[in-house]
Amino acid sequence: MTEQDDILFKPFVLGDLTLPNRVLMAPLTRSRATQPGDIPNDMNVEYYRQRAGAGLIISEATQVSPQGKGYAFTPGIYSEAQIDGWRRVTDAVHEEGGRIILQLWHVGRISHPDLQPDGNAPVAPSAIKPEGAETYVSADSGMVQIPTPRALTLEEMPDIVEQFRQGAKNAKRAGFDGVEVHAANGYLLDQFLRSCSNHRDDAYGGSLDNRLRLPLAVVEAVVEVWGADRVGVRVSPTGSFNAMEDADPVATFGAFARRLDAFGIAFIEVVEDSFQGNHVSGRPDAVIEAIQKGFSRAYIANGDYTADEARERMAAGKTDLVTFGRPFIANPDLPERLRVGAQLNEWDESTFYGGDERGYTDYSTLAGAPD
Ligand SMILES: Cc1cc2nc3c(=O)[nH]c(=O)nc-3n(C[C@H](O)[C@H](O)[C@H](O)COP(=O)(O)O)c2cc1C
Repeated sequence: MTEQDDILFKPFVLGDLTLPNRVLMAPLTRSRATQPGDIPNDMNVEYYRQRAGAGLIISEATQVSPQGKGYAFTPGIYSEAQIDGWRRVTDAVHEEGGRIILQLWHVGRISHPDLQPDGNAPVAPSAIKPEGAETYVSADSGMVQIPTPRALTLEEMPDIVEQFRQGAKNAKRAGFDGVEVHAANGYLLDQFLRSCSNHRDDAYGGSLDNRLRLPLAVVEAVVEVWGADRVGVRVSPTGSFNAMEDADPVATFGAFARRLDAFGIAFIEVVEDSFQGNHVSGRPDAVIEAIQKGFSRAYIANGDYTADEARERMAAGKTDLVTFGRPFIANPDLPERLRVGAQLNEWDESTFYGGDERGYTDYSTLAGAPD
């Protein structure tokens, strides 16, 4: 196959951005921000700079507020120092000719009093403990159980929306090319969307319309800041990570997609399958179809994709773009390797979260090991 024929290297117009290839980098928490303050640092700058050949980088999940934090060492986007740190990351990616958007994150119940302001309980739609879910609260804490959260009051909902709005504004000041709202993987917005974690009996829970209310209010606020062409949303309709389940993912996520379409946002990124856990084996075709039926703009697929499966599903019209997670951890030059059919480095799970340059900025490229 010549390069011209390879669909992975056909440019794609995603909202306001023109992507030179369809090999996108998935959001990947690496827990290496400077402490105290959860501030992006030189090591983080280098990591993203190395990966600027991606069609688009979606940043690691980044908390919009101190309350939105759920793991040790993850970066934020609410302080001046964090904004300055991220500005250095986006400058480096842009200098290399890349594009990068920020994943806006509030963890909701997936946290721990040790990580929360004043040692408070984490917040959630309902006071339901995510059975079996764990986090880490320091370098040497090991994995710790997540306790029962406190249900947010009705009066607190506008503040959640404002946290995301401010995060979106700060992302703009930090030089990002857009934002992705994190509504996947069992974090706050997903907790509102899915039936297992939202047992509210007010306007924010119960019926499907009510479960969609807060996530939609957040997306509306973020679109007001950025314009719809610079905004995407990530969902994981059948993912079981963080003790999640929805009674009817086709209905929930089909409806969410239709409502997002009305905002005209640039894309939905769907975690179709994940090593972190999935309720169906393989890709959830019925949910994927429901989302695509309801949503007219770009569909981005994620989860356990090889380059060949990405090519096949793009060619068959089953997805427009694909994000790669773990392959990008181990292969800073992943697009180049796929373009020439080179072998891929293997990832080392022991260095996914926390630590130093090892397993972070020291993976080799085809040109050799980094300096
Ligand atoms: C180390 C690691 C960190 C992750 N962090 C995030 C994150 O910050 N936000 C998110 O939405 N998903 C996160 N994920 C999930 C990935 O984006 C992706 O959905 C998953 O790895 C499956 O894709 P893959 O098979 O291409 O790796 C993470 C996955 C890994 C392995």
